[in-house]
Amino acid sequence: MKPRILVIDDEAHLRELLEITLIKMGLDVDSAETLEIARGLLAKTAYSLVLTDMRLPDGSGLEMVELVTNTHKNTPIAVITAFGSAENAVIALKAGAFDYVSKPVALDQLRKLVRSALQMHEVKPADEVVEVLVKPASPSFLIGSSPEIQHVRSQIGRLARSMAPVIITGESGSGKELAAREIHRNSGRAEKPFIAVNCGAIPEMLMEAEFFGYRKGAFTGANDDRDGFFQAANGGTLMLDEVADLPLAMQVKLLRAIQERRVRKVGATNEEAVDVRILSATHQNLADCVTAGKFRQDLYYRLNVIELVLPPLRQRLDDVEELASAILLKLATPGYSIKLNQAALQALKLYEFPGNVRELENILERAAAFANDGIVDVIDLGLRSQHSLPDQRSRNANDQTLNLGDDSEVFVKPDFPCSLPEYLEAIERDVIRAALRRTQNNRTQAADLLGVSFRQLRYSIQKLKISDE
Ligand SMILES: Nc1ncnc2c1ncn2[C@@H]1O[C@H](COP(=O)(O)OP(=O)(O)OP(=O)(O)O)[C@@H](O)[C@H]1O
Ligand SMILES: [Mg+2]
Repeated sequence: MKPRILVIDDEAHLRELLEITLIKMGLDVDSAETLEIARGLLAKTAYSLVLTDMRLPDGSGLEMVELVTNTHKNTPIAVITAFGSAENAVIALKAGAFDYVSKPVALDQLRKLVRSALQMHEVKPADEVVEVLVKPASPSFLIGSSPEIQHVRSQIGRLARSMAPVIITGESGSGKELAAREIHRNSGRAEKPFIAVNCGAIPEMLMEAEFFGYRKGAFTGANDDRDGFFQAANGGTLMLDEVADLPLAMQVKLLRAIQERRVRKVGATNEEAVDVRILSATHQNLADCVTAGKFRQDLYYRLNVIELVLPPLRQRLDDVEELASAILLKLATPGYSIKLNQAALQALKLYEFPGNVRELENILERAAAFANDGIVDVIDLGLRSQHSLPDQRSRNANDQTLNLGDDSEVFVKPDFPCSLPEYLEAIERDVIRAALRRTQNNRTQAADLLGVSFRQLRYSIQKLKISDE
């Protein structure tokens, strides 16, 4: 059976052009001039794709987007927007459209859009003209079973099927780049390149050439034609990492490239079409950057269509064990495995991780080197006092969301010299205090958290002279 497409447009001329193009691709087409007719068709037939104009005689294409998104979840819908109405495209993407084409409709762009829609829903090709690559669903690289990470995973699944720009936010080391790679890997673009660009790391003078490429002779040293990131990512995904660091002048050029889906190499006279999905990431609050005049509102609006928030590790400490196992597995060598003992695991489960998963990786890498016979003990972790963090940047980002209470003197390394028993007691005291704070001094819960019996905890509290805080 051929995939069937529903085209909704009141301009007879454009409708015909679309019909012919789709039929030539080996597809079946139904068309409708109004929302009402479209609704009737949609109720009777299952479509592989709906393509709708935004302005229709009896309403807006947006109504169709909402109808399809809410009641035909497996049917992708794309919109056709009038020239220069980029805002409509953003609104439609937010409402659930997976992509858009703008008028005048470029047929090669339309064909790409149709192919990726069919691919997305794994429709078998009707004939060879439509190349469909059906990928088996790949397992997620994001480790964790907490509700927070499950939510992220399901959002990624949904976002992978859309062309909508996504802004990925979260503290340093929380997995923003990993999430971007997952979106790409699960999308119809997986076979094409994923290019991550650190916007803060490129000298301003070179930026335009790096993004858009250049022509031979465009400037001193331009000895050859060169592609930029956009051309390199063509057909795939471009991740603008640390997007808040883009200089204002470059923001204007980038906005244009994203809106027009065309770029001009430095020194070139003509523009070339590029087909690139844009994902961006930042650990800063982009809305604040807009207020401060450091980030253009129009680009913000454009990139910020959908936000994917990576929760800090301290808000999903339940994932620590799973993450640690996976990390330690990677650090193991044949015949030598590395494991955490109970105390070390408990200590990690109470740590704040200002540097998130990356910090956990670093801690374990170091600990693995100190571990005795492959067993990591608390002391091997070398957890720092929460007040002397090296990474001030992520420390600031964390300030409002600390979990362990305000005076988080957890795991303070006492100044040497001090005896080993004293040191261990200090650690034990800190761990117990942190557990009590987290459970609002509920000793039963604190004992559970620490993996000890209530009696053991009561004994330790007396021995270490810990009072309720
Ligand atoms: N849920 C997760 N499961 C497994 N590994 C993870 C997870 N989250 C992050 N990581 C790992 O942690 C490290 C940091 O992740 P990543 O580089 O994606 O963070 P980031 O948010 O981009 O950080 P930064 O803001 O510093 O650029 C990587 O090695 C990544 O593989
Ligand atoms: Mg990153």
